[in-house]
Amino acid sequence: METQLWREILGPYRQAVDELIVKFSHIKQECQDANIYCPIESVSGRVKKVSSILEKARRKGIELEDIEEKIEDIAGIRIICQFVEDIDAVVDIISKRADLEIKQKKDYITKSKPSGYRSYHLILKYMVQTVKGSKEISVEIQIRTLAMNFWSTIEHSLQYKYKENMPDDLRQRLLRAADAVDALDNEMSSVRYEIMDAQNFNRQKASVITDILNNIENLYHVANEREVEKIQNEFFSIYKQDDMELLKRFNTQLDVLAETYRAQSAAPYD
Ligand code: GTP
Ligand code: MG
Repeated sequence: METQLWREILGPYRQAVDELIVKFSHIKQECQDANIYCPIESVSGRVKKVSSILEKARRKGIELEDIEEKIEDIAGIRIICQFVEDIDAVVDIISKRADLEIKQKKDYITKSKPSGYRSYHLILKYMVQTVKGSKEISVEIQIRTLAMNFWSTIEHSLQYKYKENMPDDLRQRLLRAADAVDALDNEMSSVRYEIMDAQNFNRQKASVITDILNNIENLYHVANEREVEKIQNEFFSIYKQDDMELLKRFNTQLDVLAETYRAQSAAPYD
């Protein structure tokens, strides 16, 4: 594997990362559109830098020609969840997809790494289509909570600073911080339903308001201006009362009104 070919070698990995970010983002979008809770909070990805690939190959004694086969995180995706329970839900979604094949599961949540690191990893086999044909590559998916991500981001930068020589007391403090993260995740899980309820309520409210505004906009085309203005004012006064039931009822009334206008304007022979 020659150095000048890196760009060519990494092309399919770049493509895989781009495609997978789109795919996971669309899962989130689908949930939003359907007004349901999404186990995915955010998605990001990266292609490993050539310097890091070479460093890992050296560290693990991997020959240059074996790099693509033996380094499984050249393409990496990170999925962040709000709650520990969401991690299983994401793994479940991935395992049911026809385009993603799980090669290996690494559960560093049930059993954290000696550093205190917690995360769920999947190694996928993923097929990319390029002008040169299909190519199957490995992709590492790291799935973790917001709290786990906070810890590992900080710990990673310290590891980077100290390399293998992290002072013992710092290591101990990081282990204690990891315990605190674990406790925080458990605490959040215990109020999960309450939090999901609140988020669900906010989503529902936003969706009813969007419906109302769409209805009012549509009425502009069919009703007379004075009537629409009256409806608009009525909406503002209901909105100020901040009562979900009133908003829902008002929206239903608008639906009925819109339906009446539609019936009136329908062609008689249709
Ligand atoms: P690496 O050579 O570190 O990539 O390990 P690996 O290929 O043997 O796989 P492993 O499952 O141990 O780790 C994969 C990835 O998980 C790493 O590249 C890191 O992104 C992350 N990771 C693993 N251990 C730690 C840790 O102790 N701290 C942090 N911050 N991240 C870790
Ligand atoms: Mg890695």
